[in-house]
Amino acid sequence: METGEQGVLKAIWGVLRTPVAPEHRGDLAFGWLILGLFFLQVFTGILLSLYFQPSPPLVAESVQYIMRDVDWGWLVRGVHHWTSHAMLAVCALHLLRAVVTGSYRGAGTPNWYAGTLVMAVIVVATYTGELLTWDQDAYWRLSGVLERIESFGDIGAFVAGAVRGGEEVNATTLSRTYSAHSLLLPWLAWVLLVANLWFLGRRLGARRGGAR
Ligand code: HEM
Repeated sequence: METGEQGVLKAIWGVLRTPVAPEHRGDLAFGWLILGLFFLQVFTGILLSLYFQPSPPLVAESVQYIMRDVDWGWLVRGVHHWTSHAMLAVCALHLLRAVVTGSYRGAGTPNWYAGTLVMAVIVVATYTGELLTWDQDAYWRLSGVLERIESFGDIGAFVAGAVRGGEEVNATTLSRTYSAHSLLLPWLAWVLLVANLWFLGRRLGARRGGAR
């Protein structure tokens, strides 16, 4: 019997070896580009996390240290910043293409949902990344957003409380924002990206008439 992991590998292999119709090559190119940018984002994020200190009295100094004293730190930070925006732009083009070509309908619907969710996760990851400098601007922006989230009934109050980690925005909030940014959201994006490939593999497999 096939395990889930074997199923995913088989699907990825199926995508790689199936000839793609010329009209779908653009979709595939955008998809691989998003995956490549995602790996670059995780790689530069891991490098940043070697020096970044997610604690209010140390955070500004650690970012300055990355920019001034760490070899190539300014470049790694710049790549991490711009890759997230490039990823958002490519995701938007990818989804726009699906709408224009109509490939979001029928067999493409699971891919459409997974793709839309990937983009939503990347928006939140970019937003949380920009809060990590924990300056006045980031502090008040997050406080405002949490107040708005709190106004959405019990669920809103629960989510805002879970992010804040208490009554007010403080060191715990920064540490939770950092762990969501560097662990929860990238893993969620990865699961959705693999699901996207898996759905695609199934579609191509079905078209070949071979194994699903
Ligand atoms: C979906 C993936 C990710 C996205 C979209 C993303 C996006 C961002 C953005 C936009 C910033 C602010 C950069 C700036 O303007 O200065 C940032 C900061 C940061 N990210 Fe990420 N990131 C991702 C994954 C990760 C991962 C996997 C890690 C670590 C394992 C990480 C670690 C950091 C750190 C330490 C900072 C703070 C340093 C700084 O302000 O430059 N990120 N991220």
